[in-house]
Amino acid sequence: MSLSGLDNLDAQPDADRSVRAYRRLAKGYDRTCTWIEALRHVAVEGLQLQPGETVLDVACGTGPTLPLLARKVGIQGRVIGIEHSPEMAQLARQRMASDGGNVSIVVAGMADPRHVYAADAVLMCYTQDVLQSSAALDQLIKACKPGARIAILGMITLPWLWGWPVNLFNMYRARHYMTTFRNLDRPYRLLEQRGARISVVDTALWGSAYIAVGTLPAA
Ligand SMILES: C[S@@+](CC[C@H](N)C(=O)[O-])C[C@H]1O[C@@H](n2cnc3c(N)ncnc32)[C@H](O)[C@@H]1O
Repeated sequence: MSLSGLDNLDAQPDADRSVRAYRRLAKGYDRTCTWIEALRHVAVEGLQLQPGETVLDVACGTGPTLPLLARKVGIQGRVIGIEHSPEMAQLARQRMASDGGNVSIVVAGMADPRHVYAADAVLMCYTQDVLQSSAALDQLIKACKPGARIAILGMITLPWLWGWPVNLFNMYRARHYMTTFRNLDRPYRLLEQRGARISVVDTALWGSAYIAVGTLPAA
């Protein structure tokens, strides 16, 4: 694992490196992200979920947003967490072990062609690598109903002219949690290029986190 994060300057996300990194990060992961708890709630609200709907939690990690989603769609609905790290997915399963049964966790990369769910909505919290993977985004669009709703929470860079110290600090801190720094100025750019409509509705942490909502392409 690179100490400096220089590997992340490579353009493409590296799924194998990510799986290896989260093998090590999984155990302490929840302690590192308590500070974004309130933002998770805002992102979930942005999905405007209805009882009975199917929602994907893409790259769900240890599953901190799964209970929020499960409550919104109710027992008639379905929550599907997709996660490529077996260690992260195992912790998500433990978290949901006593929960109502409308949550399933699929251990696979988002680019896996077996993902087909006709989902109504998609949540992506701190999923930079997935957002930068063309194969994963193409599969995500196929896995959902046309025009499915999407909410994204994640890291974004400030304008480099004055924001560079904050950007460098955040990128250094995040270097093990993502394998590419591509498009950090507009992390949802590849989704927009596929016809998704995305609007940033909120920022936090002095502008270095964003919440965006929108819809996937209509067909
Ligand atoms: C920063 S964590 C975020 C976890 C969770 N969404 C949260 O909000 O805490 C990023 C997660 O993305 C997963 N991941 C990265 N690339 C992936 C891919 N192509 N398919 C599925 N999961 C992926 C990692 O294993 C890791 O669990």
